[in-house]
Amino acid sequence: MIIIAVPVEGDNGEKRVALSPETARKFVALGCKVRIQAGAGAGAHFSDADYKQAGATSAKNTAATLKGATIILTVRRPKVPALKGAAKGAILACILDPFSGKAELSALASAGLTLFSMELMPRITRAQSMDVLSSQANLAGYKAVVDAAAHFGRALPMMMTAAGTVPAARVFIMGVGVAGLQAIATAKRLGAIVTATDVRPSTKEQVESLAAKFIAVEDEEFATAETSAGYAKEMSAAYKKKQAKLIAGHVKSQDIIITTALIPGRPAPELISRRMVESMKSGSIIVDLAAERGGNCAVTKRDAVIEHKGVSVMGNTNLAGDLAGNASSLYARNLYAFIEPMIDQENKGGLAIDWEDEVITGTLVAKGGKLVHPMLTGKGGGKK
Ligand code: NAI
Repeated sequence: MIIIAVPVEGDNGEKRVALSPETARKFVALGCKVRIQAGAGAGAHFSDADYKQAGATSAKNTAATLKGATIILTVRRPKVPALKGAAKGAILACILDPFSGKAELSALASAGLTLFSMELMPRITRAQSMDVLSSQANLAGYKAVVDAAAHFGRALPMMMTAAGTVPAARVFIMGVGVAGLQAIATAKRLGAIVTATDVRPSTKEQVESLAAKFIAVEDEEFATAETSAGYAKEMSAAYKKKQAKLIAGHVKSQDIIITTALIPGRPAPELISRRMVESMKSGSIIVDLAAERGGNCAVTKRDAVIEHKGVSVMGNTNLAGDLAGNASSLYARNLYAFIEPMIDQENKGGLAIDWEDEVITGTLVAKGGKLVHPMLTGKGGGKK
């Protein structure tokens, strides 16, 4: 019988959990045994009783949770000692962060675990329901605006009162991927005057469809700045210079800036220099959603809120984790959509993994004691 095990997340402040009562029930309906460590859902306000009601069993500690597990589900990459007790060949699916902490990653591989990195999911239509980057970035984009609004010492919407008019705040979104689009929609709902920029031409129409204004250097390079996978390309030095000039003029008049710009496999591009921060009005806010990859703003400090010459710069790297209930429900569904096809429905109790499927080849990082992903072994091209 397939045993699905969910241990408590490590000591990393993570409030999300990889299994929701809803997905526990679905795994049980597939014929799996589901075991979750006591208290694992607490950060997301899923109680042990909720899981029990869904048909899962509870285990007191991590070792007991992992005993005989076929599939281990976590949010973040667990450390090797935490996985003591997991059988060789057990599957671990999580947000593996495969390009950092190589020694720890190799140790997990050497322990004989089959590792899947959910954030390497190919962006094909069939895999949309498994796409953790999208499910979490959407929530992060929303939370970035809500946090900025809470921190801002002024109102976002225009208000006409007997005592005078409160002007609408100006919000600028840099990078219009999944997070950026949700940030635009959220800032619009709060009544701000919203502008946005991106280097991918297809984003212009998306920005305008949300009734925000698009701002970018629209030259020949811009027209080809999107990869076939829908991601941004690294722009030339000449383009970056033109872009920086245009953005510098715009930034001065903004009250809140949310930056989300990323290029797969590279450090985040710097879009807001120290000087640009200093050109902003005192009391302005920057939320840098790219903080985890070095930040889009020159003065961002990872996981800190700093004030630079009157401008607050917020660098929280886990905004989705602050909405742990929603983030866990969506993440758990992403995992369920990924795992469900691996379970042999006809021969209950077995795994039936199609090792040729691009969803599997795209996310498989280690198997049989070795790292196997082409991006880690250097045997394949870069991502897209
Ligand atoms: P991302 O997180 O990689 O990057 C965020 C945004 O930053 C992107 O829009 C990118 O173009 C932009 N950016 C990069 N460099 C920039 C610069 N110098 N200046 C301004 N902006 C810059 O992107 P995300 O959110 O992962 O989305 C990428 C694309 O993938 C989108 O088109 C999205 O709709 C698509 N997508 C497709 C899915 C599927 O088919 N399964 C699932 C999710 C997203």
